[in-house]
Amino acid sequence: MHLKLSVLASTFACAASLASAIDISVKSTGGNATNGHQYGFLHEDINNSGDGGLYAELIRNRAFQISERFPATLDGWHSVKGAKLSLKNLSEPLSDVLVTSLNVAAPKGHGQVGFQNDGYWGIDVKARKKYTGSFWVKGTYSGQFTASLQSNITGQTFGSVRVKSQSTPDKWTEHSFELTSSRDAPNSNNTFAITFDASGAKEGSLDFNLISLFPPTFKGRKNGMRVDIAEALEQLHPTLFRIPGGNMLEGLTNRTWWDWKNTLGPLKDRPAFTGVWGYQQTNGLGLLEYLEFAEDLGMEIVLGVYDGLSLNGDITPKDQLQFFIDDALDQIEFIRGPASSKWGSVRASLGHPEPWKLEYVEIGNEDWLAGAPKGWDTFKEYRFPLFLEAINKAYPDIQVISSGSVYDGYDIPAPGAGDYHVYAEPDTLVAEFSKFDNVKQPHIIGEMAAIHPNGGSGWDGPQQPFPWWGGAVGEAVSLIGYERNADRIIGAAYAPIIRNMNRWQWAITAIQFTADKVTRSTSWYIWELMAAHPLTETLPATSQFDPLYYVAGKNEKTGGHIFKAAVYNSTDGAEVPVKLSFEGVKQGTTAELTILTGPKDPYGSNDPFTGVNVVKTSKKTIRSDKTGSFQFSLPDLSIAVLDTSPPKSRRWNSAVKGSS
Ligand code: AHR
Repeated sequence: MHLKLSVLASTFACAASLASAIDISVKSTGGNATNGHQYGFLHEDINNSGDGGLYAELIRNRAFQISERFPATLDGWHSVKGAKLSLKNLSEPLSDVLVTSLNVAAPKGHGQVGFQNDGYWGIDVKARKKYTGSFWVKGTYSGQFTASLQSNITGQTFGSVRVKSQSTPDKWTEHSFELTSSRDAPNSNNTFAITFDASGAKEGSLDFNLISLFPPTFKGRKNGMRVDIAEALEQLHPTLFRIPGGNMLEGLTNRTWWDWKNTLGPLKDRPAFTGVWGYQQTNGLGLLEYLEFAEDLGMEIVLGVYDGLSLNGDITPKDQLQFFIDDALDQIEFIRGPASSKWGSVRASLGHPEPWKLEYVEIGNEDWLAGAPKGWDTFKEYRFPLFLEAINKAYPDIQVISSGSVYDGYDIPAPGAGDYHVYAEPDTLVAEFSKFDNVKQPHIIGEMAAIHPNGGSGWDGPQQPFPWWGGAVGEAVSLIGYERNADRIIGAAYAPIIRNMNRWQWAITAIQFTADKVTRSTSWYIWELMAAHPLTETLPATSQFDPLYYVAGKNEKTGGHIFKAAVYNSTDGAEVPVKLSFEGVKQGTTAELTILTGPKDPYGSNDPFTGVNVVKTSKKTIRSDKTGSFQFSLPDLSIAVLDTSPPKSRRWNSAVKGSS
């Protein structure tokens, strides 16, 4: 539902009145060391943000997979030149898990026939990019296959390659190829085709499976990530990566939870996953791929382990829980065990002998929600305590996290931490500025975003179509509140992080994309700026909040004194004058002051269809005056960072349209 903008704008009501500058003195000692990784995101395959999103595979429904909820289909596939396509369950399938294949029957005397794929709602084709592909075939065929990228509109071929057949009737044979386009396609309405000479297929048909095509991937990883999406994530300077969801971890039932063991090894041995967001998942983006991506971006992992509760309310009884505890211990060993250990050796065999770092393990996801109240009761009674005990017995240094917070009614036993999720309207996020000031247990804010307009409509009320400026400032206020408590707040994760504009279930994400385009939302800009200036220590400062919310501290590595602030609803929309001094920072010290402001209408968004960026970035160098103070004014609905030793470059600056 779309309310009128004038009504919406008025809900950003005015608050306090300001006569003179807010005088903020920051002490040089007496604060708290932070854990150094406050900003990150949750990824799970929602909104086709995994298959068809971050995972770079271009072919949709590449292996005709079957899962408990979803049958094998021909979705995405079409005949070329009259070939008859059908699904077959051959007595000798490609593998135990890829049991259905594509039979392509070639009518006699038809020359080149075959099949083509739509991609994930288009395929981005760029000149000189090297596409790497493969397919498996079974059947008698002497001749060549042609793999090509073509326009779906005009049929124009942008690039093609001949692949000599090695196919035989008695076994599956893999064919690999590289394909380079000679030109840029004018748009992403393109298709990938495989054709063969009908007269060479002696039995009249051939069987195909696992038909795959990858563009160059992020950092050249095999089976890796889509470059433009990965870069938009990297540019957020994330240091925390919560995987693998969310609801995806829980699965629809206790037979279909996200089983990490099914996501390892050759693609032909990975069964489908019954996705929880209404579509089949390939398991191509598996645990190893997630870990490699974390490594590439320098992110700490927050690993969610299945804890015996699924979305339909299936609860594992106490006497059967050991299976899942052992499974979690295996998973931890896979990630951080020595290469000589049972699961560490599996990791080594997959090309990563070095253990990864793993400090955070979360038990389940939102256990207070599914199967309530029994789900939550059993979590508190035995599921969390048993996981906590077993994991800390084997790994005393791991911070075990409950999937609910103290605010969900759990006095989390030591040494456990909590997870708080907040999808809210901006007024709520602002009201929660001090929420964690007096909470003793450490917490992660495992999912957060402004999703509802102000007005108290609640969870079932209207969501905004895209992140919007006022919502992003609301997020900034909560983020600053978390950062003030960064000794106990492990960090905050935006969720869900990305959305394919062609098929989605959840509107508000920090990044939107299509086959050939990525849009950074208003929230993206706020999270980027906040994360670009990490604090290693918070410092005590004068506390006078509303409408200015702030945190001050320093970064030991850069030597910078840092101040992060947001203005939310100043009186009459007036600018807020600030006088800021850091103990020990002398007269004449320079600092970089970055201020983000939005459009006049606080409900303005970065709409992926127009590509217009409504976020204005202003950056200037200011100098402390003779009292050692930095004096500046911040507009209403703005966020700002002052840093006396700013990072040299923020790579996205030159790349992002509309930033200044
Ligand atoms: O982020 C989207 C979903 O919201 C997550 O899967 C779930 O944990 C939450 O309810």
